[in-house]
Amino acid sequence: MRTQRSLSKVNEGFDYFIDYNNNANQTKCIREVRVKCLQSLEDLKRICEKLGLKFDYYSEETMLVDMILDDMILENQRLYLIKWQGYDSAHSSWEPVEGLINCEDMIYFYDTMKNPPSILNEEMIFCFIKDLLTRKPYDYLTLTKLCALIFKLDEKYINSLKLSFADLRKKASKILNIPTAKLNKINDELLNLMQFSEKRKLVLLSLHEWEIKINKNNFSPYVKIENNVDLEGPPMDFNFISDCISSYVDLTPHALVYCTCKDCGKNRNGCCAHYFDDQFAYDKHRRLQLPPGYPIYECNDRCKCDKNCINRVVQCGQKIRVCIFRTSNGCGWGLKTLDPIEKGQFALEYTGEVITSNHAEERAEVYDHLGRTYLFDLDYEEDCLYTVDSMLYGNASRFINHSCNPNLETYSVWANQQDPNLPKIAFFARKKIYRGEELTFDYKMEDSRNTKGVSDLEKERILCMCNSRNCKKYLV
Ligand SMILES: C[S@@+](CC[C@H](N)C(=O)[O-])C[C@H]1O[C@@H](n2cnc3c(N)ncnc32)[C@H](O)[C@@H]1O
Ligand SMILES: [Zn+2]
Ligand SMILES: [Zn+2]
Ligand SMILES: [Zn+2]
Repeated sequence: MRTQRSLSKVNEGFDYFIDYNNNANQTKCIREVRVKCLQSLEDLKRICEKLGLKFDYYSEETMLVDMILDDMILENQRLYLIKWQGYDSAHSSWEPVEGLINCEDMIYFYDTMKNPPSILNEEMIFCFIKDLLTRKPYDYLTLTKLCALIFKLDEKYINSLKLSFADLRKKASKILNIPTAKLNKINDELLNLMQFSEKRKLVLLSLHEWEIKINKNNFSPYVKIENNVDLEGPPMDFNFISDCISSYVDLTPHALVYCTCKDCGKNRNGCCAHYFDDQFAYDKHRRLQLPPGYPIYECNDRCKCDKNCINRVVQCGQKIRVCIFRTSNGCGWGLKTLDPIEKGQFALEYTGEVITSNHAEERAEVYDHLGRTYLFDLDYEEDCLYTVDSMLYGNASRFINHSCNPNLETYSVWANQQDPNLPKIAFFARKKIYRGEELTFDYKMEDSRNTKGVSDLEKERILCMCNSRNCKKYLV
């Protein structure tokens, strides 16, 4: 699967590759000519044109076809939109079929899937399986569906086996041994699955590209994206940010209060929190030792201690690796941890766009219609002046779902920014959280329907799907 283009360096000169294969007027077929070139590429191209030769240049860096994204007919010629291996889809290019070497299977499969026959043939099944077993990122979902279909098993049951991709692949490849007569019995389901798989390819590609994009400007550990559930792609217009931003509020850090301890860990009662009549937040392992609702005052840039002070935790950023994943309980995206988290350990901060509460009211109405909210009130003080909105700007915490029995607790934290109305929102583990567990917190959403009009009273409540034993049934 490759097309040959561009040039390769050989010693002091260049080798140019001239392909006569497709020239119908050539009586003699010359497969490949290599000449040491003393001329520029442009000169050579002109000479070839003069001689009526097809000019193509060739590189050591071969371009491999990853997949066909689309097709069209232009001036009676069919062109395919090619996604190249190692390049993102923005670099895809329209290519005629002659430019695509060793891509016959791929083109055949693409064309046939566009106009599928009512009865599948062996070749199509072979192309489908070959692609499914080798394509990256792996498509666990289609593979699971295929196993469920050929072994007449329940998908949930296969999921519960937690098979590795290699095991799933081994099982799915058994389809190649199934006699045609037997396959004919599942012809329609198989055809549906092939079409589903084509859609999944594009979804997985867009999610993979999103994963690369969000990790480019991300200072926390690498964030993974996983969708083994459906055809949902990346959320529209969402921008990944590490720190809160605002065009409404000045977020410039400015600490008035600071400590002069020699060792903050040993001077717990005289450190920063003391100036606010509050308690030192962390134990010697930097685990939180305050009950929910208590404020955290960390050391700041003006304190005499250094960056290793144990009273600097949230400001040092997220240390755990997380994965944004598609939930299977109907909650949309969720967040899971890829590292174990100890009780009291800092997990991550809630970042987003800091807006005034008036703006938040307006946005809340829009989000209510969508049935989704990304608003987090900074309401440590009784009067809530500001809200963090992570609908368009946020970090991985934007994907944390609600649970009535959560494993994270939220705390208000002040470090360099000491405005009582502008705390950082930080999540700490309420209990030991195991690798792979979904992260959740209690949204504690207020039921605004009591304070609003009749039409609000009638609006539908959002059913809670947390599945915990003490579930309160509704989010609001
Ligand atoms: C901050 S977002 C969490 C990420 C969200 N699941 C997504 O796909 O983008 C909050 C929204 O997720 C959904 N959600 C979160 N927890 C839920 C739960 N326990 N039950 C039902 N929906 C939930 C609701 O639509 C809620 O407004
Ligand atoms: Zn101190
Ligand atoms: Zn300190
Ligand atoms: Zn619940």
